[in-house]
Amino acid sequence: MRILIKNIKKLVQTENKPKLKVSGKAMAKIGSIENAYLILKDDLIEDFGKMKNMPEIEGNYKSIDASEKMVFPSYCDSHTHLVYAGSREIEYNDKIKGLSYEEIAKRGGGILNSAKLLNKTSEDELYEQALPRINEIISQGTGAVEIKSGYGLTLEGELKMLRVIKRLKETTPLIIKSTFLGAHAVPSEYKGKQSEYVDFVINEILPKVAEEKLADFIDVFCDKGFFTVDETDKILTAGAKYGLRPKIHANELDYSGGIQIGVKHNALSVDHLEYVGDEEIKVLKNSETMPTILPGAAFFLNMPYSPARKMIDAGLPIAVASDFNPGSSPSGNMKLMGSFASVNYKLTAEEVINATTINTAYAMNISKITGSIAKGKKANVFITKEIPSIEYMSYAYGSDLIDTIILGGEIIRKSECE
Ligand code: NIG
Ligand code: FE
Repeated sequence: MRILIKNIKKLVQTENKPKLKVSGKAMAKIGSIENAYLILKDDLIEDFGKMKNMPEIEGNYKSIDASEKMVFPSYCDSHTHLVYAGSREIEYNDKIKGLSYEEIAKRGGGILNSAKLLNKTSEDELYEQALPRINEIISQGTGAVEIKSGYGLTLEGELKMLRVIKRLKETTPLIIKSTFLGAHAVPSEYKGKQSEYVDFVINEILPKVAEEKLADFIDVFCDKGFFTVDETDKILTAGAKYGLRPKIHANELDYSGGIQIGVKHNALSVDHLEYVGDEEIKVLKNSETMPTILPGAAFFLNMPYSPARKMIDAGLPIAVASDFNPGSSPSGNMKLMGSFASVNYKLTAEEVINATTINTAYAMNISKITGSIAKGKKANVFITKEIPSIEYMSYAYGSDLIDTIILGGEIIRKSECE
């Protein structure tokens, strides 16, 4: 079955020669076609171009008129923790009263609070709680998402989370990648015995995760007060034996050495990056690793902003993801992340588009199949409401500007997302 979208005011992020990622100055450019058509066949993009060159379509097809509207590739969100139990708005109160993220964590709050609740929640219930979040991000334009474990911190808890992610892969129209984050925090039973917990992650949890093929990637929270560079090295070495490429949390709370150890292990991405200096930039320049910023977490925790502008000006690529999680970023709204990225990190509209589509697709190792409008890529797109320019997307930061969502060639009604 084909879908023809015609009279598109602007077809955004088109590529004739698809790239895996976009770096430095090239981030300020995107391909686009004014007064365009787009043809989707089954779950793939078949053809696109100027209206005046639109071909005759044979057979049955559905036609959508997009006059005054734009078509974008769906957002790719390469860093989330959207499978979790309950919520943590109580800590949010503590934060408003002045406690820092680390202080809350030290008191047994934070990640450990989510872990306690998750271990008491059944797999079915966890799935049911995750589903509305999935539907919400679909309605906000996301077409691919990475989801991490890391609120189990026990063998059963971690496997339960990863099984829920697997089920979401099978039952939702999103492209989903899963990441094993056993080393997200040291559980209370292991207080004062961090190295024993690291051994437990490596020897007890990881082999089971690999055996059930539950993870695509491996992550460690490598930062001050969490896991050290040496522990990260050990865990990533163990993950590599099972073919799990790293995507790690790094340099959120300090110059933690996380970027260096990530690059040493050829990480697909290093994420957060509030603390980045010349040394870190140099290391990233000689790598295949995608520097990823998480503007929602920096906003919500009132953290210093990552020097993203400096990194782009130094020739690096940048990806922007949501970090959707109950503690530091309770939102997976990628359009909003784009607004944060432009206002707080000085990314232009074109840079925001590259950072939230092709570069985040790269950070999930799926930029060959999604992240831009290119022939043969997945038919994951959204049609906007009537908007004057691409800048308007980040500018109107509180407005829902998405009119129609198409994932895998299927039109998703927004009412289905409620
Ligand atoms: O990416 N930094 C580590 N982990 C999450 C926070 C998780 C939580 O607080 O629940 C993050 O911000
Ligand atoms: Fe995170």
